[in-house]
Amino acid sequence: MLRDAQYPPMTEHAPSPGDEPDESTLPGEPASIWLATNPETAFPPLADSTSVDVAVCGGGIVGLTAAMQVAAAGFSVALLERNRIVTGTTGHSTAKLTTQHGLKYDTLRTKHGPETARRYAAANQAAIEHVANRIRQWDVECGFERKPAIIYTEKGDHGSTLRAEREAAWEAGISATAEDEIPFSTAATAGLRFDEQAQFDPRAYLLAVAEQFEAAGGQLYEQTAVTDISNGNRYRIETETTDETSTTATVGADEVIVATQFPIRDRLGLFGRLYPKQSYVLAAEIAGDQPEGMYYRVDEPYFSVRSASLDGRELTLIGGQNHKTGQGGDTAERYRRLEREARETFEIEEIVYRWSTQDFASVDNLPYVGHGGPLTNDLYIATGFGGWGMSNGIAAGLQLADMVRGRETPWQRAFDPRRVTVRESAEKLVTETVNEGGQFIRGWMKHARAEPTDLQPDEAAIYGREAKPVAAYRDRDGELHTRSAVCPHMGCVVEFNPAERSWDCPCHGSRFAVDGSVIDAPAIEGLSSIDDLKRDSEPQPD
Ligand SMILES: Cc1cc2nc3c(=O)[nH]c(=O)nc-3n(C[C@H](O)[C@H](O)[C@H](O)COP(=O)(O)OP(=O)(O)OC[C@H]3O[C@@H](n4cnc5c(N)ncnc54)[C@H](O)[C@@H]3O)c2cc1C
Ligand code: FES
Repeated sequence: MLRDAQYPPMTEHAPSPGDEPDESTLPGEPASIWLATNPETAFPPLADSTSVDVAVCGGGIVGLTAAMQVAAAGFSVALLERNRIVTGTTGHSTAKLTTQHGLKYDTLRTKHGPETARRYAAANQAAIEHVANRIRQWDVECGFERKPAIIYTEKGDHGSTLRAEREAAWEAGISATAEDEIPFSTAATAGLRFDEQAQFDPRAYLLAVAEQFEAAGGQLYEQTAVTDISNGNRYRIETETTDETSTTATVGADEVIVATQFPIRDRLGLFGRLYPKQSYVLAAEIAGDQPEGMYYRVDEPYFSVRSASLDGRELTLIGGQNHKTGQGGDTAERYRRLEREARETFEIEEIVYRWSTQDFASVDNLPYVGHGGPLTNDLYIATGFGGWGMSNGIAAGLQLADMVRGRETPWQRAFDPRRVTVRESAEKLVTETVNEGGQFIRGWMKHARAEPTDLQPDEAAIYGREAKPVAAYRDRDGELHTRSAVCPHMGCVVEFNPAERSWDCPCHGSRFAVDGSVIDAPAIEGLSSIDDLKRDSEPQPD
């Protein structure tokens, strides 16, 4: 019997049936700090068909910001969220709200010109001020604090890179100053500081936005997946609830905002211009004082630090170890590496939470925000924030709401998703997204034949059956879960993510639970069932 692509259990010893899950090798409770410390929501699923001016698909930072703005302008709005609001990437963000996004401005002015760099800076600055104003206006408690954002390098030859970044930031309208000392890094060789930036708790903030959205007459539906969007005279949005009733309904709308991170309706070939990156975060109690600012090491791998005060508890959020989704190998090891670096950097008293999530980057370093197709003037998308979608996501929500109202936002032209891809991005496309082709072909060829009878508890593998790849996971109780390993988005073969116990697609970042249900778009449908495989693989009577 040939078995391929076997994934180890998360434990470092082979578990025996009946063993308690040994998560001792991974630090902290597996939960995002924002989800663990904020209330759950219970908005109803969409039970009956409805009709509105504007439908918003997706309840993350983009969807909620846009929905609120449009509702406040007097439109009737329905927001449709597949799971619960703010439980996607936004609920797992590190949530620095900044105009400083690693090494950004020198790249933007070189690739797109100084005007585009200025527009990018203006969009993100406006987003910070928008949040600050809303918090004042609504009296929201969401840990919003003004802090400096500091990038630094530990490489001797990066000094000139940071000087160029400083000059480009000034040119884009942002004051940046050299920072000589990084308190926790003796290896730092250069730093750059942006003052008057901010950090916050995105879930606490967006739960307040949701409340205000409802108060403004908005309709909010959770556990309501958008399964199709078609247009005739108006848009017709098909939905199906993700609760036990699987109720179907439709929403008629004049305009649609697709805020599902990777757009579930892709009329622009974004699958070839976006790539997903997964990263890891630890929330830890450290000895001594919290770092004064928000820090980001621009070397590979990046290393991110910020503080968070919650319920009188001071925690430090430490992030890093990113990789292309579905190509991270032993993802549990990513947490361990991050923990090792965190312990080398700080005196850690306790790691309280750990989590990981993914964001999409565009091949030309600018988000895609605006019209969602060559001929669709009333369907809008927002994606490609490259790991910086707190301020970019707010700016996108503001821009899309303005577009619905027929207004032009000052930064809109920089982000048009229909822009022509420049030569540099074509090169990036080759390195970042064309490797998905390799995943596709290798994926099919390597899964020849086998049966999942020998999987241990908490172990997963891809098996070949009748020349079709099958994703098999045996849970800790010994039950086998088998689904087709073919991603319903565009047919790549999924990979097991042992740290999160999910099946992740290496092509465009769709993620699935072990029961096949969708965790992350662009997939709309889950992994299809393999009805007979499970029965056949059970021990048969002699
Ligand atoms: C580890 C990590 C740390 C980060 N830290 C920062 C940071 O410090 N600062 C910063 O600026 N950015 C940060 N980012 C990036 C930022 O968090 C994201 O760019 C941003 O949250 C994306 O928001 P969104 O609204 O587009 O997506 P999401 O928050 O994922 O929202 C999309 C929503 O759409 C829903 N959906 C999907 N499909 C459907 C469907 N078919 N029907 C209905 N609903 C659907 C999903 O369930 C989800 O709720 C980080 C990213 C990562 C990975
Ligand atoms: S996400 Fe596109 S093929 Fe899987």
